[in-house]
Amino acid sequence: MAHQHQYDVLVIGSGASGLSLALQLAEHVRIAVLSKGPLQEGATLYAQGGVSAVLDACDSIGSHVQDTLDAGAGLCKPEIVEFVVNHGRESIQWLFDLGVDFTKVRRSDGRMDYHLHREGGHSHRRIVHAADATGSAIERTLESKARAHHRIDLFEHHVAIDLVTGPRLGLATNRCLGAYVYDPENDRVVAFRARFVVLATGGAGKVYLYTSNPDVSTGDGIAMAWRVGCRIANMEFIQFHPTLLYHPEAKSFLITEAVRGEGGKLLLPDGQPFMHRFDPRAELAPRDIVARAIDHEMKRLGSDSVYLDISHKPAEFIASHFPTVYARCLRFGFDLTKEPIPVVPAAHYICGGVVTDRYGRTDVPGLYAIGEAACTGLHGANRIASNSLLECVVFAHSAYQDICRALEGAPEPGELPVWDESRVTDSDEEVVVSHNWDELRRFMWDYVGIERTTKRLQRAKHRVDLLRAEIAEYYGNFRVSNDLIELRNLVEVAELIIRSALQRKESRGLHYTRDYPEPDTARPPRDTVLCLGPSQQDHAAA
Ligand code: FAD
Ligand code: SIN
Repeated sequence: MAHQHQYDVLVIGSGASGLSLALQLAEHVRIAVLSKGPLQEGATLYAQGGVSAVLDACDSIGSHVQDTLDAGAGLCKPEIVEFVVNHGRESIQWLFDLGVDFTKVRRSDGRMDYHLHREGGHSHRRIVHAADATGSAIERTLESKARAHHRIDLFEHHVAIDLVTGPRLGLATNRCLGAYVYDPENDRVVAFRARFVVLATGGAGKVYLYTSNPDVSTGDGIAMAWRVGCRIANMEFIQFHPTLLYHPEAKSFLITEAVRGEGGKLLLPDGQPFMHRFDPRAELAPRDIVARAIDHEMKRLGSDSVYLDISHKPAEFIASHFPTVYARCLRFGFDLTKEPIPVVPAAHYICGGVVTDRYGRTDVPGLYAIGEAACTGLHGANRIASNSLLECVVFAHSAYQDICRALEGAPEPGELPVWDESRVTDSDEEVVVSHNWDELRRFMWDYVGIERTTKRLQRAKHRVDLLRAEIAEYYGNFRVSNDLIELRNLVEVAELIIRSALQRKESRGLHYTRDYPEPDTARPPRDTVLCLGPSQQDHAAA
């Protein structure tokens, strides 16, 4: 095996969470940042709506907290919600000071101030944004700072395969020492050792056939953390975004919720509005309600999509507030200023993930998880719009503080065991990987989607068990590749989602099952927490 890299902190992921943390830590120590593709590529780059924060004089911390708790349906951790919401203003300031060009307006007293959008589930205007390309403005700013920092080494096109942990002492959990990483350009596996490792690997939308997520969102961090014994919670709570553009070539293109926030109406194919029949907040109800209503109406009518209409607003308003959406729709032949556009729901965000505390610490010493990969307790059973970029920045900062505190006592890991390739050969059946990718994503969409039943979930469980066994065998016999690494993680994540969904015998937040259509009010709401026993950990690592 090639030489081993050694750093103080290894950050796996270069989205809003990973780069925010890396930039702060790099003031003190040497950091390696890994990204699976180009540095920018990740969900952050595609975020449109913005970052929530209490900045309007009519708004209050209490109101943002309450909106978050309401959407979370009894499963938010109130202390975490308060912690995050309280750090909204300073997080925006931090991003602004770095150079993120948020949209501003002139107030009546002549002052320039942030323009605030409104989105579903928020009772006030509190979404700070950079037109409708907020994620791109954030990611590009973080990227330029990270590229310029002499204590940050960037490893693009490097795919973390597995975390390395030390020997377990008695029943105590083993410390994280680093990771094995596939370098496709040189077709080799390299080891990175570090005093701290941070999973900032984003979400897992690619586990579903239809998703707003980019290709890198395959749940790698969640799967890696699971394999070293971290608890994984609330995986059944998958958020489906109500409005992706429906067009065969518009791969995953999201129409921001802010369009509905600014008055966009959802219509049936015959032009009738319908959201008022499902919720008094109509188009501004939280996403789970809107996505379920659309899914219901599409199935009822047998239609391929519903429609989103904002053409009653002045054309100039639409083009200036939503330039990205407007231009992209035009490319596909839809003029947002003149007509309704066809939209469908798709998997968008995973509320569950690696269980962490308020500093991003996981169950494994030395291992942190931040951003979408983590389950912090902020979102509970459902996330309201624009709370996740805020969570990325807030937890990047708290993890930074904790790592700084812990640095002095943190051991330097020694050489890691070599990555053993002596028993594997080059794959002679790539079709197994591509077939299983497609099969997995399709049955997850059909059986573990917006509306579930126990029978469908059991069908999915049966299939995922077969795929897991097949993929494990394949993984044991053949040299790793990008697709194989991702598929191994996707199947792990799919299984965690299905098991969690089967355990929840009620409908709550984003988990809706026809067999238990109401929340269970007989007992207090509970997280679904999965963990490997110590003997299974040895098995998973083998
Ligand atoms: P990401 O930005 O997804 O970055 C993940 C990183 O991990 C990437 O660099 C990837 O290459 C790397 N990675 C993954 N696996 C590996 C591996 N095995 N090895 C090496 N590197 C790896 N949220 C909001 O708050 N407001 C919004 O307006 C908003 N709009 C959205 C619009 C879209 C289309 C989407 C998809 C999401 C949106 N979200 C929004 C959600 C939000 O963008 C994400 O939750 C957030 O950006 C996640 O940031 P992150 O840093 O956790 O991960
Ligand atoms: C959107 O702009 O609709 C996405 C916002 C989010 O996912 O938070």
